[in-house]
Amino acid sequence: MASVAYILQTMEYGPAPESAAAATDWLAAHSPFGHFINGQWVAANSHFDSINPATAKPIARIGQGTAANVDAAVNAAQTAFLSWSRLSGHKRARYLYALARSIQKQSRLLAVLESMDNGKPIRETRDLDIPLAARHFAYHAGWAQLQATEFPGYEPVGVAGQIIPWNFPLLMLAWKIAPALAMGNTVILKPAEFTSLTALAFAEICEQIGLPPGVVNIVTGDGRTGEAIINHVGIDKIAFTGSTEVGRIIRKATAGSGKKLSLELGGKSPFIVFDDADLDSVVEGVVDAIWFNQGEVCCAGSRLIVQENIAERLVDKLRARMERLRLGDPLDKAIDMGAIIDPVQLEKIRRLVAQGVEEGAVLHQPSWQCPTEGYYYPPTVLTNIAPASTVAQEEIFGPVVVVLTFRTPAEAVALANNTRYGLAASIWSENINTALDLARGVKAGTVWINSTNLFDAASGFGGYRESGYGREGGREGLFEYLKRQKVVSPSSAALLPTTNGHVDSHHHGHADRLPDDAMPVLDRTPKLFIKGKQSRPDSGYSLSISGAQGRQIGQVGDGNRKDIRNAVEAARAAESWADATAYNRAQILYYLAENLSARAAEFVTRICAQTGVSPAQGHTEVEAAIERLFIFGAWADKYDGLAHATPIRNLSVALNEAIGVIGIVCADESPLLGFIAAVAPAVALGNTIVVVPSERFPLSATDFYQVIETSDVPPGVINIVTGRRNALAQVLADHNDVDALWVFSDAPQADLVAKVEAASITNMKRTWIAHNADWQSASHETIAEYLRQASQVKNIWAPYGA
Ligand code: NAI
Ligand code: MG
Repeated sequence: MASVAYILQTMEYGPAPESAAAATDWLAAHSPFGHFINGQWVAANSHFDSINPATAKPIARIGQGTAANVDAAVNAAQTAFLSWSRLSGHKRARYLYALARSIQKQSRLLAVLESMDNGKPIRETRDLDIPLAARHFAYHAGWAQLQATEFPGYEPVGVAGQIIPWNFPLLMLAWKIAPALAMGNTVILKPAEFTSLTALAFAEICEQIGLPPGVVNIVTGDGRTGEAIINHVGIDKIAFTGSTEVGRIIRKATAGSGKKLSLELGGKSPFIVFDDADLDSVVEGVVDAIWFNQGEVCCAGSRLIVQENIAERLVDKLRARMERLRLGDPLDKAIDMGAIIDPVQLEKIRRLVAQGVEEGAVLHQPSWQCPTEGYYYPPTVLTNIAPASTVAQEEIFGPVVVVLTFRTPAEAVALANNTRYGLAASIWSENINTALDLARGVKAGTVWINSTNLFDAASGFGGYRESGYGREGGREGLFEYLKRQKVVSPSSAALLPTTNGHVDSHHHGHADRLPDDAMPVLDRTPKLFIKGKQSRPDSGYSLSISGAQGRQIGQVGDGNRKDIRNAVEAARAAESWADATAYNRAQILYYLAENLSARAAEFVTRICAQTGVSPAQGHTEVEAAIERLFIFGAWADKYDGLAHATPIRNLSVALNEAIGVIGIVCADESPLLGFIAAVAPAVALGNTIVVVPSERFPLSATDFYQVIETSDVPPGVINIVTGRRNALAQVLADHNDVDALWVFSDAPQADLVAKVEAASITNMKRTWIAHNADWQSASHETIAEYLRQASQVKNIWAPYGA
């Protein structure tokens, strides 16, 4: 026992252990665990150990879920869906609220279990993981309550299969289950094999509050159990958080299956420090960015990007701070860092750090030793880093930060974006202009100004680029668990009523149609439209276009891979379109409308000649296209973001940003309107595009070249490549520099969808495949969907306090 005098002199911390007794008793009473299926505990066929990473000792036996277990769980969820989805929002809100309250009531048990199972400090599970999990359920109780009034026209997706990682076990469960249940879905969730305990404790909470059987099913197990979930035909939606590698496997496995998919994957998030930042705050920020949760955080600030003139001073401060960090028993309340999840992860960290050193990095670690029992890795700083080196590019998922330097803000943005990821970014400067400018410039789903690793249910979380797609939290996150209600009568055809009320857009050659010879003679052969100019197709070939009467009415270029490549390059080069003011973009859309309107008669004639609709129908289509340009011109400067009410002193702002380069493949129906319906929203929100118009009726799009040319559209913003749609769709899907791909078809094209979705994994591009009959309608839901697909949400957090 140290004397008081000694303690006062050294000011050392004594151990402050949290008792594990309640958790150990709970484990003794429950292990070996079964699966929670249809409200009952089902014994597992076989088991594996869950290990406490701080001791390397087993603490429980967990069931290895089989395909049969998954099947039973899906059946239960399907049955439960019938009643759960019809429950009033208010009743669902009550259940969610009860879940939130129960998590709060059992928070100590959950916090201790989480620490024991994962190795993270009790301080973090107690103050962050568990309260945030409760907050998530409470927040989504509110959305359940408001669903009917806030989301008319939408319905739950069905059964959600949810697969989560080990770094925030209960919190990730809450992020997945709360929105799903709130919107009326039922779930089957698989926790990570390393950390199943709090999910099983949560299952017990579901039992205790009397949640109807089958609404939540928990099946434990490893990747094989995960595979059974992703391949199950009874599942309508997959939500995954984990490695980019497994994310790719899942995208590929579900391609063409019709399952809705959201992926929250890895990151290599920048932590940018300007020379005017408060360096002492920065040091504590780095502690939270990379040493919180042992750096096992998908959005960890793992690349410290520092203005050159302060780099040395900051690294010195960090080394001093690192020396004083306390690493050890996660149940000790005075501990800063706990243990790494597993020997495999520990080995991965060691290997990557060794490789970094081999590639020239200088290693900084504290002088003290890690405990020898358990899987520990010390806080680590690597300096002398080349931007292209392995440790600057690969996710380490451990307490290791690399230091890079910059001179100008532009260089900081370039370095920050020099990665395939885009999950989060942290920006430190006392100059609000600099901070906000950088916040707009970095490609990331979440940006923290003078702060880091802030989370809240009200603020959506999710990635740009290869960090995945879909959001969790906020209003935006709910759409992952909603789909459009089936439209009773297909309204695209209804857009084209004839004077006698007869609706027909599919059949050609009616007597009241214009004869082909009323058309202008074969006057011009349009080329492709790339970078604001018409250019000859690389192939040198043209495709003949037949009119409604079967005679040739024109020719268009037969675009190929090389043409698409040129078009994508042009679109990428025109990216500053996103920085044009929304007002400016709106003006250009109205201008397009004006110029289209001036030539309406010509476009009507063309539509009729191609598709054989009546002049009245052609007229309706052209007018609808003009209106659509107005609608999205209107939205361009009205698709506002949100200011979220997160529970700290903070401005949390959600901005709708452009996605980047979007590939668009049009269907045949309504060749002008179909084209404009997709082009207008994409361009209105700042994207640049490569469009493949209708293969059968491309002349409306090629006629549009001249409208574009006379409407001040900057070169490269709209690029058009005519040709064979399936082949060109595939080229766009394979292309690494296309950020999103929309494919519209007149009828479901399962084979094309499967191919396009599978190919999208090269750069994890977002895909939107629409073949429902009403995508050309101007209903509120349709317009909203186009706007959502054309944008991604960036949440910027700016805490304040003088
Ligand atoms: P992982 O991606 O393999 O595991 C995540 C979840 O996916 C677990 O529940 C796992 O059982 C499941 N899973 C694994 N293979 C599957 C398959 N073929 N089909 C369906 N589900 C499958 O991640 P792991 O191996 O635990 O960690 C490896 C690396 O992944 C880490 O070093 C880290 O870099 C990264 N990672 C990223 C996370 C994030 O939050 N972004 C979380 C966990 C890991
Ligand atoms: Mg464990």
